[in-house]
Amino acid sequence: MNTQSPLIELRNVSMDYGSGKDQMLALEEIDLTIAPQDFVCVLGPSGCGKSTLMKIIAGYQQPTTGEAIFQGEPIQGPDWHRGVVFQSPTLYPWLNVKDNVGFGPNIRGLDKKEVDRISDHFLEQIGMLKDKDKAVFELSGGMRQRVALARVLANRPEMILMDEPLGALDALTRLNMQTLIRDLWQENKNTVLMITHDVDEAMSLGNRLIVMSKQPGKIIKTYDLDYTYQALKTNNHRVNIDSTYLEIKNEILDLINTDLNSPASIETSKK
Ligand SMILES: Nc1ncnc2c1ncn2[C@@H]1O[C@H](COP(=O)(O)OP(=O)(O)O)[C@@H](O)[C@H]1O
Ligand SMILES: [Mg+2]
Repeated sequence: MNTQSPLIELRNVSMDYGSGKDQMLALEEIDLTIAPQDFVCVLGPSGCGKSTLMKIIAGYQQPTTGEAIFQGEPIQGPDWHRGVVFQSPTLYPWLNVKDNVGFGPNIRGLDKKEVDRISDHFLEQIGMLKDKDKAVFELSGGMRQRVALARVLANRPEMILMDEPLGALDALTRLNMQTLIRDLWQENKNTVLMITHDVDEAMSLGNRLIVMSKQPGKIIKTYDLDYTYQALKTNNHRVNIDSTYLEIKNEILDLINTDLNSPASIETSKK
């Protein structure tokens, strides 16, 4: 983490769902500070509140107690400064690739030449300039997810929030997408928060890892790592798996699995 003033601050954030006997505590007393240009990966057992945490930062949900702050101001609702990418890409099927990417700049009223310039720039970044006139139905899952990323980037958000964005992709596409996401983060100097189930993915992309406990979700451990910076320096963009890497990976797996073996989380992971 660097020493600039924080981009995101969560102070004592808790989140209840339901009421009466159906009330459940999804997040409990979360304190989290995210600095500009951090790449934060969130790991934790299913149902521990990862998506809830992301929705609070996105502004889709208000915490029951505590404060969620973006650039010093309370988060009131969703806006362009924090772009969201979901597991299944939400593209407009009636728009072609280029118009999906230019959608945000277009509705913000930029003139057509500027919109074209922006969408070409980000299509180039995701390696899909040649596909700009294609229809959404012509694209593979990995291509759709790249277009979804470019569409969010075209709004020039300070922050990108991703909820298991690569979960639906095959293993090879997933590896290529990890490299692309790391490169886009460096090139555009965004701050990223990414939820993932995959410990290797988290360790190779994030400079900070957050491990959450089973419900009610709390942050049980954070790690500052530099594998992602190392991967940026190598030609093949791969992480050098040393003995410390394996130790940390095992420790994280133990933290998550200890949680999974207890009765409460077996119940939640059935859903
Ligand atoms: N809108 C909602 N209403 C009621 N309960 C919810 C809602 N969203 C999530 N939950 C519950 O809150 C807990 C945390 O959910 P979620 O944030 O989706 O966890 P994760 O993303 O880690 O799997 C789960 O038990 C889930 O069933
Ligand atoms: Mg989730």
